[in-house]
Amino acid sequence: MILQTRAMRVMLATAGALAAALWITACQPAQQPQQQAQTDTQSSAQTETNLVERGKYLVTVAACDECHTPFKTGANGPERDMSRRLSGHPQGTKLSTPKFGAKGWAVAIDETGTAFFGPWGIAFAANLTPDEETGIGIWDEQMFINAIRTGKHWGQGRPIAPIMPWHNYAQMTDEDLKAIFAYLKSLPPIKNEVPELIPPPGTKTE
Ligand code: HEC
Repeated sequence: MILQTRAMRVMLATAGALAAALWITACQPAQQPQQQAQTDTQSSAQTETNLVERGKYLVTVAACDECHTPFKTGANGPERDMSRRLSGHPQGTKLSTPKFGAKGWAVAIDETGTAFFGPWGIAFAANLTPDEETGIGIWDEQMFINAIRTGKHWGQGRPIAPIMPWHNYAQMTDEDLKAIFAYLKSLPPIKNEVPELIPPPGTKTE
């Protein structure tokens, strides 16, 4: 918010006529309003660019891609498919039912690197691109902050499966979370309907 100040002059004058003349002069705007508006637009565009850049940096170092960007087969084996960056578990992937046999093992990850089998059932990494139907297109900043801070689906629903390290990300500052959200919103929207969490057998659903 930019507070526009105008040159305000308080005149202490004894002659009434002189005071009136000076008062009129003092009321002229100090800066051309159009010029001021232009400067404001330029600086807010710059602030937005900085925010998106900061968000990109945070998403990269906080390793969101590790779960939210699917794998493809590259020249040297599996690699993250950055053309589908952060679009979540690919729609239509055929998965067999995972079985646990090996003692002491708790989690299995599918070959796309985006589905996680564990005590919570099977969780599928969400589509974080701004597609309106399948991604976070209709989310607002507050929903995003609530989801990360409280570990609740859509910021208010069921608990998010603990494989999503929200406890760690909840420690980020509001500024960091806002920057991440701004970056996610700047991504190309990718239509990809991620399946809902499959709870473990025997779980009561609401
Ligand atoms: C270790 C894997 C992993 C990492 C790393 C990870 N996520 Fe997630 N995330 C998931 C999974 C799995 C889900 C789906 C959980 C569910 O359905 O309960 C999810 C869900 C989400 C959701 C949707 C919450 C909702 O309302 O359902 C958001 C938003 C999100 N992640 C953001 C991020 C961001 C931002 C980062 C990086 C700062 C990140 N995630 C890093 C695995 C991960």
